[in-house]
Amino acid sequence: MKRLFIDDSIGRLASLSPAKKNLIVTDREVRRLHGRNFPAWPVIEIGRGESSKTLATVEALYEEFLKHEIDRSSCIVAIGGGIVCDVAGFAASTFMRGLPFGSVPTTLLAQVDASVGGKNGVNFKGYKNLVGTFTQPSFVLCDFSVLKTLPEDERKNGFAEAIKHGAMGDARLFAYLEKNTEKAFAFAPEALQRIVGDSIVLKSGIVQRDEREKGERRKLNFGHTIGHALEKSACLAHGQAVSIGMAVASRLSVAKRLLSAAESHRIERLLRAFGLPVAMPVRVDALMDALAKDKKRENGIIHFVLLERIGKSVTMPVRFSELREVLSEVRDPLHD
Ligand SMILES: NC(=O)c1ccc[n+]([C@@H]2O[C@H](COP(=O)([O-])OP(=O)(O)OC[C@H]3O[C@@H](n4cnc5c(N)ncnc54)[C@H](O)[C@@H]3O)[C@@H](O)[C@H]2O)c1
Ligand SMILES: [Zn+2]
Repeated sequence: MKRLFIDDSIGRLASLSPAKKNLIVTDREVRRLHGRNFPAWPVIEIGRGESSKTLATVEALYEEFLKHEIDRSSCIVAIGGGIVCDVAGFAASTFMRGLPFGSVPTTLLAQVDASVGGKNGVNFKGYKNLVGTFTQPSFVLCDFSVLKTLPEDERKNGFAEAIKHGAMGDARLFAYLEKNTEKAFAFAPEALQRIVGDSIVLKSGIVQRDEREKGERRKLNFGHTIGHALEKSACLAHGQAVSIGMAVASRLSVAKRLLSAAESHRIERLLRAFGLPVAMPVRVDALMDALAKDKKRENGIIHFVLLERIGKSVTMPVRFSELREVLSEVRDPLHD
């Protein structure tokens, strides 16, 4: 990412964009709620939800780019959640072999996670994010005032990723979230400044060292191995699924004698404080079946991001038998 504006305003976009000709990509809901603050540039809407994150939507965008005579001196400005930013970023980074684009993430999840790191793309044949590129946006602008309209479940999804950042790589952010849960949940500006700012610093540092996810970047997948399996098998929202995934990975870390039980409890306590689930909502067998299809699995072993302590993660192989034991424990309603 070339330029980052945190706690800035959508209203300033016109003076920040590097291009003369700009085209906004957004969705209906974001435009309805915040369109009055958009600069006077042409606006293209895409559909909402994962079912719109497709090559067909990208093709429709290419057609609009042609219609609006977009070229490499133009800039595509995505204003929306992770889906709008991923799809518009992919269309921009492939049209004419790559146009400049800027991201204006309007969900907490997109501000702390999706808009940083240069990954963009679409789903293909039921596989999430199968087709895409690594292309850094020209700028990212986070306007905290737009978050006020976010529904509660979307807030929780975002906090799950912020807690993930604290747990896997920033003990001070984790402690801040523990001490300031209410302020954070109320979206107090100073809390957002800290949480979004620290998340972006952490993630962009990792991405700078390992853009193509050959090593360190994998640690950002803490909670996501189980999370992705649960998203599919239990139809949970991403943040909820990742929350349970983090609880399981923490317990696995304790079982492997890496992490203290006290720290694992701190993680579960913080997830619950943000209204996120930690107990397994499906039968252990159903989840094991979903995991067996995971491409990271080899010979009864699956690679997990585990914790040595809050703020320090490691990638480690885990046997299916070890995992099954921990999953049965998380299923226990006493721990719910
Ligand atoms: N590129 C990456 O590195 C990366 C990282 C994490 C997630 N992602 C992707 O991000 C997507 C999820 O993003 P998301 O959680 O932002 O979901 P989303 O983009 O689906 O947005 C959620 C919903 O909130 C609405 N919305 C957006 N801003 C709003 C606002 N300010 N007020 C009220 N409603 C608003 C949208 O219309 C949408 O229906 C997934 O497809 C995921 O794969 C990408
Ligand atoms: Zn995630």
